[in-house]
Amino acid sequence: MAVERTLSIIKPDGLEKDIIGEVIGRFEDADLRPIAMRMTWLSRQEAEGFYAVHADQPFFDELIEFMTRGPVVLMVLEGENAIERNRMIMGATDPDEADEGTIRAEFATDIGENTVHGSDSPENAEKEIRYFFSDTDLYPDRAQE
Ligand code: CMP
Repeated sequence: MAVERTLSIIKPDGLEKDIIGEVIGRFEDADLRPIAMRMTWLSRQEAEGFYAVHADQPFFDELIEFMTRGPVVLMVLEGENAIERNRMIMGATDPDEADEGTIRAEFATDIGENTVHGSDSPENAEKEIRYFFSDTDLYPDRAQE
């Protein structure tokens, strides 16, 4: 299986619930290693650009309000089959449909405030990583002891 990279976002509700460490721990336990990380408060323009594909959806305004209501943590995760495995660890978009033990089943408030985002395909992972990070922000190789 291929080593992949995916974009992960811990959304404002995740920071409000003080579960940054819990979420990152789940990724590390699954050998999805953060190779880039930044806490930031998205501007309306950044959030609208990131979610442009949803611009016609009835929930778009609500989504942008939510994603700009507080800071988020942006991460690039690297690992075997990272895109699909990240989505399994997150659980379904709607926490009522998410499998037991997933991040969204345990922590999400509802389908809108669902704690985490993860890229859904290799093409989108590439695009989403580029949206927030440049090559010099990524640290895939770490010094060995
Ligand atoms: P995410 O994986 O970040 O991708 C798009 C986001 O839109 C999604 O998570 C939810 O936060 C939000 N979203 C999707 N469907 C709905 C909905 N029906 N109502 C409100 N928000 C939604």
